Parts: sequence; structure tokens; C-alpha cells
Amino acid sequence: MIVCVCKSVSERQIKACIDAGATSMEDLQIDLGVALCCGKCGPYVQEMVSGASPCCGRLCGGCCQSAQGTAPSEVVVAPALALAA
Ligand code: FES
Repeated sequence: MIVCVCKSVSERQIKACIDAGATSMEDLQIDLGVALCCGKCGPYVQEMVSGASPCCGRLCGGCCQSAQGTAPSEVVVAPALALAA
């Protein structure tokens, strides 16, 4: 799966970089160039490097990590943009 569209960086590449010793967002920015253009991949990359296991691309509380497969207790949804009329 492509995580950083701007730099065409995949989740596999990020995991490999972390496995090779990257420990911070800065390491991944230097090594792969992620989160340096639009920044939309930043939160996902940060979760990966922080040791969290992003599974669905949202802050889902680990829904797919659950042994019972229970639904997340809270789903964070980005607020809609308020457009001036
Ligand atoms: S998607 Fe990664 S910087 Fe734009």
C-alpha cells in the first residue's frame, strides 16, 4: 500500500526503514522523503514509527488488532470543512 503519495513510498518501505534502525519521523523524512510535501501521510507515518500498528489508516483504536474483531469504541472523523456561504 502506498502511504506517501507525493513520494510514492509504500508501507513496506517504511517498515523496512524502521526495521533497519529508523526511530523517528525525521529519520524517515531523511531516508524516504515522507511527509515533506503535502504532509497528509504524516500522522500515519508517525504512528508507524511510534510503534503503533496502524491498521486501517485511521486512529481506530486497533480495531483489526482485536482478537474478537470488535468495533472500535471511538472513531475519529475529520471535521467537515466549513464553507462560507
Ligand atoms: S502524501 Fe506524503 S507528503 Fe504528501
